[in-house]
Amino acid sequence: MVEAHPEMELYVGMDVDPTALEIGRGHIEAFLAGREANGGELRAYTHVKNFKYIKQVLGSLDESLAVGSSGVDGILIDLGMSSMQVNRSNRGFSVLQDGPLDMRMDPKATLRAEDILNSWPELEVGRILRDYGEESNWQFLQKQIAKAREMGGLHSTGDLVKLIQRKCTISKGRQGWIKTATRVFQALRIAVNDELRVLEDSLHSSFDCLATGGRLAVVSFHSLEDRIVKKTFLELIHGGEADDEEDDDDNLTLPDIDDEDEPWFNQRVQGRNGIVLTKRPITPSQEEEKLNQRCRSAKLRVIQKA
Ligand SMILES: C[S@@+](CC[C@H](N)C(=O)[O-])C[C@H]1O[C@@H](n2cnc3c(N)ncnc32)[C@H](O)[C@@H]1O
Repeated sequence: MVEAHPEMELYVGMDVDPTALEIGRGHIEAFLAGREANGGELRAYTHVKNFKYIKQVLGSLDESLAVGSSGVDGILIDLGMSSMQVNRSNRGFSVLQDGPLDMRMDPKATLRAEDILNSWPELEVGRILRDYGEESNWQFLQKQIAKAREMGGLHSTGDLVKLIQRKCTISKGRQGWIKTATRVFQALRIAVNDELRVLEDSLHSSFDCLATGGRLAVVSFHSLEDRIVKKTFLELIHGGEADDEEDDDDNLTLPDIDDEDEPWFNQRVQGRNGIVLTKRPITPSQEEEKLNQRCRSAKLRVIQKA
């Protein structure tokens, strides 16, 4: 982003994972070193903080940044896990590598996936699998997890995968267990990091921090997140409750625009507080998918403050 925008004066990067932030910081410092040599000026800060604290982070740099009257011009929230997190088996995010049942994005947080699986009320575990994993076999898995507790509990991602495989290998084969395990891991990750509530809070706080005409862009990676982004964007532009329906009559949908600068925004939804620039989300092209398989499920939505 900083490379693509030489006009940028201030950059603030946030990640709740200190390792991710360190990697990002390295890229930014290397870029800044090159830019200083060419006489450019960019103030760049990085903070190990949850996105939901964006107001506090911007306010700590300059009070006027955290309020709409001046605010910032652009915010990008890139949700989910990074490849680094998935590839490091000790984080417990990977279905295919054995590791601890951790799944915390913030290593200082106290709740781990192991705590949920071994000590949360059985019905709550079932609810998580149903609501956060959209897993149809949630009841069966809930019972198996409760049974495993009687045998000493689940203590590694391998233990959890074996439990899932026992159910799936009979009925659906390898693809079956991987798909189920992916849904179960997603459910636990969402619960461990309280991802859905954090997302809603982060969207509201970020919108507050935008200057007039400023834009908030969000990349999400699964339908639960995308639904929240879509619904919250409508609430933000209308200033309150919004209907989740695509073609709500209250939304003044502007027809396809012919803007040569931004041909990728198809249809806009106008509200009194802003405009949803992406009535439908932007998804990766086939070329991008070929370069980066993990982008497959990404959806980008953008809102602009009035
Ligand atoms: C898809 S990765 C993208 C990372 C970065 N944009 C990059 O290209 O390397 C998502 C990152 O967001 C971080 N993350 C997820 N939810 C967060 C939250 N609520 N607050 C702060 N960071 C979060 C994760 O730790 C992870 O490093």
